[in-house]
Order: sequence, then C-alpha cells, then structure tokens
Amino acid sequence: MSLRSRLSGPDGHPPGTASQPANGTGATGATGARGAEGAEATARLVPAYRTKLLEEIDLAEMSALTPAERRSRLERVLGHLISREGPVLATDDRDLLIRRVVDEALGLGVLEPLLEDASVTEIMVNGPDQVFVERAGRVAQVPVRFASHEQLMQTIERIVSTVNRRVDESNPMVDARLPTGERVNVVIPPLSLTGATLTIRRFPRAYRLDELVRLGTLDDAMVLLLSAFIRARFNVIVSGGTGSGKTTLLNALSGLIPETERIITVEDAAELQLQQQHVIRLETRPPNVEGKGRVTVRDLVRNSLRMRPDRIIVGEVRGGETLDMLQAMSTGHDGSLATVHANSAEDALMRLQTLASMSEVEIPFPALQDQINSAVDVLVQLARFPDGSRKIVEISLLASHGRETFQIASVCRFRARPMTPDGRIFGTFEHLPVTRRAADRLTMTGESVPPAFGVAAPDSRLTTREAGGATG
Ligand SMILES: Nc1ncnc2c1ncn2[C@@H]1O[C@H](COP(=O)(O)OP(=O)(O)OP(=O)(O)O)[C@@H](O)[C@H]1O
Ligand SMILES: [Mg+2]
Repeated sequence: MSLRSRLSGPDGHPPGTASQPANGTGATGATGARGAEGAEATARLVPAYRTKLLEEIDLAEMSALTPAERRSRLERVLGHLISREGPVLATDDRDLLIRRVVDEALGLGVLEPLLEDASVTEIMVNGPDQVFVERAGRVAQVPVRFASHEQLMQTIERIVSTVNRRVDESNPMVDARLPTGERVNVVIPPLSLTGATLTIRRFPRAYRLDELVRLGTLDDAMVLLLSAFIRARFNVIVSGGTGSGKTTLLNALSGLIPETERIITVEDAAELQLQQQHVIRLETRPPNVEGKGRVTVRDLVRNSLRMRPDRIIVGEVRGGETLDMLQAMSTGHDGSLATVHANSAEDALMRLQTLASMSEVEIPFPALQDQINSAVDVLVQLARFPDGSRKIVEISLLASHGRETFQIASVCRFRARPMTPDGRIFGTFEHLPVTRRAADRLTMTGESVPPAFGVAAPDSRLTTREAGGATG
C-alpha cells in the first residue's frame, strides 16, 4: 500500500483525536497515571514503533520533502499506526510517543528539537547526560539527555554512516556532516574520557558586510577600506580564534569580488556561500573505510592553480597547503583570501611561517619570511568577546619586504570601553593612516584610501611594529 493512499483520509488532526478506535477513550488510559510512569511506559514503546514507522514510509518520497514536511508526514503516518495497532494512550503520552519516535526516525533523537531551534548555533554533547548549546554566543546546559550510552552511540553511528565513515575504537575521532549541512565532530572513548562526545556546528548563516556593521563587528569606514583592498587585489588573511567569525567574514568579504572573475574556493568542509556566478567549489575528502581515497586541502590548492583561477579562497590553512597558498598569492594569483587560526596579527604571521614549514620541502627560515612578505598584504584580526559578539580588533598591513623581519602597520584597532552592567561590550574603532606603499597601490588600481584613514607621511614608521625576531 502506498503512503499516499494511506494518507488520503481525514488526517492532519492532532494525534489521538478523530482516528482513535472505538474503544479508545482518549482519556488517561488503563493505568490512569500520567507523569513519570506514563512517560516510562511510552519510552518502552519507542523502538517497536520506530521499526514499524520505517517499514511504512517511502524513503524516496521522504527525501524530496523539506525537513518540516518530513516531520509532519511522519507524525501523521505514526498517528495512523498507533490508532490502528497500538495500545490506548492518554493524549499526552501519545503525543510524547509520536514525538520521540519521529525524533529518532529523523536521525538525531533527542537532538532534533535543538536542531530545529534557529537560535541554537552549536550543540555540544558531552556523554549521554550532558548537553550544552550555544545561543547568541553564550553557552548553557539544556535539560536534554540520552537514555543511555548506547542510544548516544546509535545516534553517532547514524550520523557517521551517512558520510560513509565508521566510528569505533580503532577510529575514535571522526568528522562528518548532516544532510542539512551542519558540521559534526565525534570523539568516543578511549580518546574521550567524558564519554562519547558530539559537537554539531550549525551551518553558518551568511552575513553581508552591512549586517556585520549592524552587529558591531566593524564600521562603515572599515567596509570601505576592505572593499578597496579586495578590489585592488590585495591578498588578505583573516585570522582569529575558534568561532571568532573567520568564515563568516571571509564569506562577506568574498562578496566584494567582481562578478567577472573566476573564483575557486578550497575548503575542508564547504561552508562558504558565494553569490557570484563563476565559482568553483572544491571540498576535501576523508579516506574511506579502507583508508584510501583521501584528498587534502593541499591537493586541492595545488590543483586549483591548474584551473585558471582569478582568485583562490582557502577556507582555512592548517598545514602544508600554506606554502602552496603563499606561493600562489605571490605569483600572480593576487587578490586571494584565506583564514588562519591565530590570536593576533603577529601570531598569524608566525603561524603561517610554521604551517608553511610543515610541507615536505625543507625551506630555510629567511626564505619563508620572504615568501610571506611578498604574499601577504592585509591581516584582519577577529576576536570573540565574552558577550558573544565578534569584532575586528585590528586591520593591519604587512609593511616589510624580502627577507626583512615582519613589520606590521596597524590601520585600524578596536578600543573597548569598560563592560556595561548587563555584560555587553562596546567601544570604538580607531582609524590610523594607511602606509604610503598601500595607498599608492590603491591609487594605481583606481581605488582610493577612505578619508577616515588618510595616508601616512612618506617613510613614516610611526605605526609599524616588529613581529618575531629573525631566528633560525
Ligand atoms: N560578526 C559576527 N557577529 C555575531 N555572530 C557571528 C559573527 N560572525 C560569526 N558569528 C557566529 O559565530 C559562529 C561561528 O562563526 P564562524 O564559523 O564564521 O567562525 P570561525 O572563526 O570560522 O569558526 P572555526 O574556528 O570553527 O572555523 C556562527 O554561529 C556565526 O553565525
Ligand atoms: Mg571557520
């Protein structure tokens, strides 16, 4: 029997009403007890109904539906099933049973409601008894728990199997992705001493620069400056700590790239949502179950150079690909963008140097310095504040050449005011003169320095600082 014919009756009513069998009172059921006891009895029915429901539905048909439609379809089918075959349940228990079975059928069990909550940006499961969520940048525990370690492991296995991976003792750490795009990381014992842990990052919503201005991440003058840099094909590195908004800013900045250019994006897990027409998106692939077929960011960066890119955007540099990216940036693929995990502009340069030295080619330190000096033009430093806001705390230009020690010229800095009584952070973005070299380059490409910044006096070194001694 097809699902459609089964659903053609007068449904859509709340579960437990119209299609209740004649003997069903719809009242409190045989025990008459609602509450813990009823909930427990209901919980015992979940596995059987989950199996029945899966037998009943047409998976191909389901996959064409939106998540909301999918849920309501499952709820209706299950309502019919319970009416047809099930015990008589109190309306509340029946609703609870339907909810739990459908949650499990949709794959993420007790996490489903959290995933549906648009204000939740991150879900962190630390073993079966502890679930935390992040909302508006703040992390708090929620009253959600898995029935057991086994149930949590089932959920994890379901997630991991959709990306053809396996999680077990010999493979205890896995990255995966939900069909809806969310990034998932799993670590199970023995690596995790806290029990099986699951971290789900909501697929980041794309912000435009003007929206980021409204959120206080940067100001209008900074938008003008960054726009000029991007149009003038400066190479830009966005740096920041975990969750500081690097990918979000990279995405917004990418929106400034002209439509006429061919853009290639390289990411470990595709998150960027570029609006341009001519974009090629490349994503890495983990090894399969036999440990074969792995494609790394480095492979993709190297390959992208053979694809005639106008710009290369690397989601995040983390390893040997850094050298390839720096080489690309300094040899004709200027105007490229990347992010790196670092806590300051100095730190970002050091990190690029360390990462570039991780490639198998042994490159002496001064040569790496040369490479970075000629590749990197602009550093944009982000930070995440205790109130959950993300701000650009510094925009700086790399003012050193060749094998010189890095010289950083700050053109913008965030000055925080004391925290407000309700814990919020405000401040001002201080604008400083742009180096002459950068200003000349902007002028040459038909851009100009926004008046809020101005241009430094010739040979002015007033605002530059040194980063990293020339060691090695
Ligand atoms: N400027 C911003 N203001 C407020 N929230 C932001 C901002 N930028 C990003 N976020 C939110 O912060 C979270 C993390 O953002 P994003 O993925 O861009 O950070 P990230 O630095 O790239 O993180 P990771 O280190 O994991 O790569 C997302 O939920 C995103 O919506
Ligand atoms: Mg990121």
